[in-house]
Amino acid sequence: MTPLVLILNGPNLNLLGVREPAVYGRDTLDDVRALAERRATELGLAIDFRQSNHEGVLVDWIQEARGKAAAIIINAGALTHTSIAILDALSAVELPVVEVHLSNIFRRETFRHHSYVSLAARGVICGFGPKGYALALEAVSGLIDGAATP
Ligand code: DQA
Repeated sequence: MTPLVLILNGPNLNLLGVREPAVYGRDTLDDVRALAERRATELGLAIDFRQSNHEGVLVDWIQEARGKAAAIIINAGALTHTSIAILDALSAVELPVVEVHLSNIFRRETFRHHSYVSLAARGVICGFGPKGYALALEAVSGLIDGAATP
């Protein structure tokens, strides 16, 4: 069966393309979804690509991934830097997690340098724009195959 990867996007990522284009670029979230779908197909993966502005909805989706998804890719937006609830959900679900950010959060304000999500993630990809989602899928593919070291 084709492994399913849950790709979650947090607050304000629905505004991609119009929101601070100097930081996040001109691609919309639909463009990112299309890119992720293409790469997933090449890698033999299926994706479930979602976005919510609400912390609790993201927590629900992470919990529901148990027994359904093989891995989670998450760009939690600003919740990355604040949400222990998302960290706890990611820790509880016991799936490989790859954290993605479009921007290089370490070149930005210091409050973006800390990530709760990272505590539950196998790795982090940031600063490569939408391509980061394709890179995360490659990482996930290796993790699912057991090709990557723990
Ligand atoms: C972001 C970085 C976060 O600091 C910010 O709050 C976002 C987007 C990124 O993809 O670069 O909303 O996660």
